[in-house]
Amino acid sequence: MNEWTMDLLVNLYCDKFEELQQRAGGVDVAIRPALPPELHIIQDWVRRHFSAYWVSEVTIALARQPSGCLIATIEGELVGFACYDTTARGFFGPTGVRADYRGRGIGTALLARALEAMKGQGYAYAIIGCVGPAEFYRIAADAYPIPSIGSVYQRLLRPSLETETAP
Ligand SMILES: CC(C)(COP(=O)(O)OP(=O)(O)OC[C@H]1O[C@@H](n2cnc3c(N)ncnc32)[C@H](O)[C@@H]1OP(=O)(O)O)[C@@H](O)C(=O)NCCC(=O)NCCS
Repeated sequence: MNEWTMDLLVNLYCDKFEELQQRAGGVDVAIRPALPPELHIIQDWVRRHFSAYWVSEVTIALARQPSGCLIATIEGELVGFACYDTTARGFFGPTGVRADYRGRGIGTALLARALEAMKGQGYAYAIIGCVGPAEFYRIAADAYPIPSIGSVYQRLLRPSLETETAP
């Protein structure tokens, strides 16, 4: 199974989840739900550091109340984000940390806070859709692959189709 087509499952009631919450508490970063007036800033940032697809997902996550987009800041500067319940219910993601801030525990802290929010909304499991860094999720949350082929993301429209048909 290719990593970018693989979905992972996380149990929100296992010991590893408690460990994740404790580890995240020690990370020196502020994490909070993003607010609607911040949407344009977050969209620009996600486009600059990640992808247009993720801009779309962030927009949907932020359109809900309560917001399904968490942001990580250091001294008021945006350094990371994480969304949940965005492309599909029960899904964590997308998430990303600015390249020069990686390896400091911020991705783990965002994951912990987002999964905690999902648990608070009644989920017992979370799905991490179409992962890239499966090892990161395995270490952080004991996430393991769902043995199935196919993904909600697999037949997305591609920008090239739009440009080919544009007048
Ligand atoms: C994945 C990502 C969010 C992790 O953020 P981060 O802040 O660097 O993560 P952390 O510092 O909390 O890392 C925790 C541990 O996971 C490891 N890790 C981080 N990224 C990893 C990766 N891509 N693959 C394997 N291990 C990884 C770290 O080395 C660290 O291990 P350590 O505790 O032994 O040092 C970040 O690398 C990123 O933005 N990647 C690009 C976007 C992306 O792939 N998002 C996920 C889409 S599903």
